[in-house]
Amino acid sequence: MINSGVLFNTDDMSEANNNSPIGVFDSGLGGLTVLKELAQRFPQEHFVYLGDTARLPYGSKSIATIQRYAEQNIEFLMKKKAKLIVAACNSASSALLSHSDKSYPVPVINVIEPASQSALNTSTTGSIGVLGTRATIGQNIYEQVIHKLKPSMIIHSQACPLFVPFIEEGLINDPLINLVIHRYVSPLLATNVDTIILGCTHYPIIKAFIQKVMGKHIQLIDSAPAVADILQHKMATGTLLANQDQKEQNIELCITDINSRFQEVAARFLKPISYSNITATHL
Ligand code: DGL
Repeated sequence: MINSGVLFNTDDMSEANNNSPIGVFDSGLGGLTVLKELAQRFPQEHFVYLGDTARLPYGSKSIATIQRYAEQNIEFLMKKKAKLIVAACNSASSALLSHSDKSYPVPVINVIEPASQSALNTSTTGSIGVLGTRATIGQNIYEQVIHKLKPSMIIHSQACPLFVPFIEEGLINDPLINLVIHRYVSPLLATNVDTIILGCTHYPIIKAFIQKVMGKHIQLIDSAPAVADILQHKMATGTLLANQDQKEQNIELCITDINSRFQEVAARFLKPISYSNITATHL
């Protein structure tokens, strides 16, 4: 299980203190949807973001491989002295939740439990749809988490493996992705779902197009605000909050493969937030 470990254990890699950055990771650009929400919600905090673009996509790989990548990402962020880490990737979160028994000296937050709770709070029909990568959907992780909270819920899941390559390419407002959206989400129209979890942190980038196909009456759940709520709670009750007098917010992007389009697409996805610096990183 992802644990919410003991803070500031000085014997290990983490020498974090309350002014240390919050670590966020994803396989690529998708986690920027979470970073943007967190950076806006916590303007006094610094952030370090790891985008493992060299090994993207995670969602079509085996759970054992995704788990290994996720654990390496956590270790990297601990070396960057992150005081708290957000696995802003559903595929990584599902591998960690269902397989990893490692414990960490800083809290590691997953995106699946907050999104599940948020969907439960929203649904009135008792039927929830979940869109995600093959890895996330194949693990049935949303079903397990939601059923633990409310066993009577009916879950309709749909893997959408083509969404991530389109989004990473920046092909957002394109007739081709609209065809793909139709293909993946229209089967949900024949069900009783009133709430759909965007179970991949890339998908909020095409939220408006998914909404158009599903109709205004369907609530789409983006994990970012739900994760920000959890952090707000954790930070308010602990010793994690940065000093209010910290200077300008610093956002460092560490990217394992920077292709020619990354900076432009990343800046577009983060807007109005801007990053301070970008570093080519090897894990
Ligand atoms: N954004 C990631 C997720 O939430 C993974 C995308 C991918 O690498 O397949 O699942």
